Amino acid sequence: MLFSHHLRPFTSLAAQIQASAPQTTLRRTFVSTAAMATPKLQKAILQPDVQSTDVILITDHPVPVAKPSSTEHLIRVHTTAITNGELLWGKNFPIPAEYSATKIMVPCNDVAGTVLTAPESSPFQPGTEVYARSNYYRTGCAREYSILLTEEMAKRPQRLTWAESATVPMSAETAWQALFVQAGLEPKAGSAKGKRIFITAASGAVGTWLVQLSKWIGAEVIGTCGSSSVEWVKSLKADTVLDYTNTNVKEWASVEGNKVDLAIDCFGGKSLEDAWWVVKDGATLISIYQPPEQKKPAGVKGNIKNFFFIMESKGDQLQKVTELIDCGFGKTALDSSFPLDHFQEAFAKLKSGKAKGKVVIDLGVV
Ligand SMILES: NC(=O)c1ccc[n+]([C@@H]2O[C@H](COP(=O)([O-])OP(=O)(O)OC[C@H]3O[C@@H](n4cnc5c(N)ncnc54)[C@H](OP(=O)(O)O)[C@@H]3O)[C@@H](O)[C@H]2O)c1
Repeated sequence: MLFSHHLRPFTSLAAQIQASAPQTTLRRTFVSTAAMATPKLQKAILQPDVQSTDVILITDHPVPVAKPSSTEHLIRVHTTAITNGELLWGKNFPIPAEYSATKIMVPCNDVAGTVLTAPESSPFQPGTEVYARSNYYRTGCAREYSILLTEEMAKRPQRLTWAESATVPMSAETAWQALFVQAGLEPKAGSAKGKRIFITAASGAVGTWLVQLSKWIGAEVIGTCGSSSVEWVKSLKADTVLDYTNTNVKEWASVEGNKVDLAIDCFGGKSLEDAWWVVKDGATLISIYQPPEQKKPAGVKGNIKNFFFIMESKGDQLQKVTELIDCGFGKTALDSSFPLDHFQEAFAKLKSGKAKGKVVIDLGVV
């Protein structure tokens, strides 16, 4: 398992220009440099048929142009992360009509890169190193140049490598929204002291952030994971780690004092079924996998608020995560990083089920 923290080794072209150019000419200098350097065609990964999970590499994908009078930015992509199962979305979740005419089936919506062109009023001017979860309804980011919107972007953490940066947006935003939007907790250090939070699949990309953010707000955390991940979840400072391969969660929950104020399920199925037993009467059960009622066991009593939600890309929440990371908070879940030409290995690694954390594709910007 590779969960690393490296100092950022890269000094971007923009940063070099910033260091040497007089402030008044900075933006125009960068834009013209970027414009000169931006080709018309680029390399991209494409899913030619949504009925199949096959992907190919093409070299003649058009470089997009940011629409004037919009919040669009042209980004030079450094790294992008694959989401497990995303090649099935086109088949299972058809794109709404207003997007289907413009969406090209390029995968990967978690991205880290450098801004090349920006709206005049944007806080992310050319040269800014950013990251985001882009909206799936638009063309994805497994390509050298892509488009991001102001409202989905944040400055990327300076403490992380480019590969680590791409692992953060969707996972951290999902965890943030589960705790601070859906469950209504306060995003403030120590604000949940005395509360107990139960997290299934605590070793996964979302679970990793749920554990760490829950500890940040002072909650007592119980996380489930497989045997090979127990040490990892302990390293995230979970108070109790339950190995799902040898723990009867229902029995564990029946012990006096073990029930929790909030349970968040990241795996569905049996782990969601188990989570129902763990929640106190009047408390909340959230799943990011499926509606909890689908897995409610017969015999569960009490009034348990329960729901499923789908995350939204929110740059302001991601910016708060950046600030926490840059203050030394948080481990990222990076399994591995592959150069673009090895994209098939990257997709195969994720499909194998053996990845521990996110698999990243590196676009090889030097
Ligand atoms: N609703 C939303 O908006 C939203 C957003 C993000 C993700 N998701 C979904 O949420 C799920 C988790 O995402 P992720 O990125 O965290 O996935 P991930 O990184 O692939 O993690 C999955 C985790 O599941 C654990 N696991 C495997 N078998 C299990 C079992 N029987 N019981 C409990 N845990 C088990 C694994 O733990 P071990 O390796 O320790 O066995 C692994 O760490 C995915 O299905 C994803 O599609 C939904």
